[in-house]
Amino acid sequence: MNKTNEWFINWFDSKYYHILYKDRSQAEANNFIKQLVNNLILDPEKNVLDLGCGKGRHANTLSKFFKTLEGIDISKESIDFANKNKSSNQNFHISDMRDFEMGKSYGYIFNLFTSFGYFENLSDNLKVLNQCNKHLLKDGLLIIDFLNAKKILKSINNSNETKTIDNVNFELNKSIIDNYVVKKIKITDGEKAFNYQEKVQLFDLNNFIEMFKKTGFELISSFGDYNMNSYSEGSSRLILVAKKTNT
Ligand SMILES: C[S@@+](CC[C@H](N)C(=O)[O-])C[C@H]1O[C@@H](n2cnc3c(N)ncnc32)[C@H](O)[C@@H]1O
Repeated sequence: MNKTNEWFINWFDSKYYHILYKDRSQAEANNFIKQLVNNLILDPEKNVLDLGCGKGRHANTLSKFFKTLEGIDISKESIDFANKNKSSNQNFHISDMRDFEMGKSYGYIFNLFTSFGYFENLSDNLKVLNQCNKHLLKDGLLIIDFLNAKKILKSINNSNETKTIDNVNFELNKSIIDNYVVKKIKITDGEKAFNYQEKVQLFDLNNFIEMFKKTGFELISSFGDYNMNSYSEGSSRLILVAKKTNT
C-alpha cells in the first residue's frame, strides 16, 4: 500500500485526533511508568526510546528515571508539540516505526498505549519488532502495552457513541472486522464533515509470543493493568516484557 494512504498517517496527524483525545490521562501515564520502573527494577543509567510517543505523555516521567529519552512518532503535529516542551535529556523525531534509523542502541524500548498492530500485513508488524531488536543493547528489553484482544472479542459487538468536544461533533462506531477492532469516526465541524478510522489488529498473548520468536525476543513477563497485576483473559490490558535474545 502507498504509505500516504495508510489510515494512521492521516488520522494521528489530523487536528481532530488531538481534539478527540485531548483529555488522555497524564496521571495514568505517570503512575504506569513508576510502576514499571519499580516492578522491573530498571537501570537508571540506560538510554531509552519511546516508540509511538505521541505528544510525550509517558516521556515526561520516563526521562526523570533514565539518562536520556528519545521519542519517535509518525505525527508531525505530536513531535512538534513534544519538542517544544522537552526537557534537557529528551529528544523527539518524526519517523515510521517500521523503518526508523537512530544509529544507536537503547537499554529499553517502550511502545505504550496500543501503538502497535496498525498494519495490514504481518510483515510490517515484524518489521517494527526487528527494528526494536536492532536498536536494543544486548539483553535489552522491549515493553509493549497493548489492548487485551481476548477481552475485546468478548465485549464488543457493535457500539455507537456521540461526543461533542470544542464544538466538534464525533460519531464513533466500534466493531470487530476480520480480527481487527475498527473504530469509525464521523466528524462534523460546522459545515465541514470528515471520516476517519482507527484499526488495530487483535493480537493476543500467543500471537505476540510467535512474533517475538521470529524477531529475536523472548517473553519474560506479562501484566494485565497499569498497577502491574497479573494478566488474565479479563484484564484491562496486555502488557508484555520481552528480552532481546540475540547479540
Ligand atoms: C494510541 S497513540 C499513543 C500515543 C502515546 N504513546 C500515548 O500514550 O499518549 C498511538 C501513536 O502511534 C503513532 N503511530 C502510528 N503509526 C505509527 C508509525 N507507523 N510509526 C510511528 N508512530 C506511529 C501515532 O501517531 C500515535 O501518536
